[in-house]
Amino acid sequence: MKLDKATALVTGANRGLGRSIVSALVKAGVPRIYAGARRSFQPPDFGSKTSVLPLKLDITDNAQVARAASQASDVTLLINNAGLLPRGGAMSVSEKDLHAAMEVNLMGTWQMARAFAPVIEANGGGIIVNILSLISLHNAPPFAAYSAAKHASWAMTQSFQDDLAGSNVQVVACFPGGINTDMLAGVPAVKANPDSVASLIVKGILRGDSEIFPDRVSAMQGPVLLGGGRNQGH
Ligand SMILES: NC(=O)c1ccc[n+]([C@@H]2O[C@H](COP(=O)([O-])OP(=O)(O)OC[C@H]3O[C@@H](n4cnc5c(N)ncnc54)[C@H](OP(=O)(O)O)[C@@H]3O)[C@@H](O)[C@H]2O)c1
Repeated sequence: MKLDKATALVTGANRGLGRSIVSALVKAGVPRIYAGARRSFQPPDFGSKTSVLPLKLDITDNAQVARAASQASDVTLLINNAGLLPRGGAMSVSEKDLHAAMEVNLMGTWQMARAFAPVIEANGGGIIVNILSLISLHNAPPFAAYSAAKHASWAMTQSFQDDLAGSNVQVVACFPGGINTDMLAGVPAVKANPDSVASLIVKGILRGDSEIFPDRVSAMQGPVLLGGGRNQGH
């Protein structure tokens, strides 16, 4: 994909990996970026010619998603980044947290891809990147709700890949390992720098990868886990 002509939309762009992805897209020369966030925020001044436009967007709110698809009708690159990780295993996680994890990581991501695929198609084609996780491929029992939701989101991503295979919309699955953001605060793990993860995501987009493993742990474990995880049509 030629990023110097793309219009991007990044969900959950106000902090964490989303903010780093916006910055990496600016560095890559994307001229126009919608920075989605569920609360109003002012995107940082990136000191470049790129227009970074704040877009109020809670991905679990169907009306906001529909409004975003009509407001941001020039999008050719959607980065489905927003995510939620409630803590707790299968016995301890609350029903409310399980619902919330499903609402954001599965339903919201699905809603966004479904709303923007026709927009991207009408703009001559482009890419949807779903930010999944290594946990989409390998269960993490202390994060039962997140694991279930990210597994389901990977399944849905494969279904989008099938449905849109004949179109000009490429659906990309991205499987980061641990990243040093609020999401994993207090969790002892190997954590990659969000800026370097974002820059590897952009490199994967430029190469046309259909799966992106944007850090060292992901690059080592992801392809092996994926080997057994790809839906083989049964
Ligand atoms: N951190 C990791 O170790 C790691 C590893 C693998 C994959 N990932 C994935 O990477 C993505 C980014 O995670 P992160 O580490 O940057 O997490 P984070 O620091 O917790 O940030 C999460 C972002 O998602 C937004 N968000 C949550 N619910 C939303 C909703 N309903 N509508 C719109 N935005 C919403 C948050 O907005 P608010 O500020 O309003 O809460 C925030 O901007 C997620 O999909 C996550 O699952 C993260």
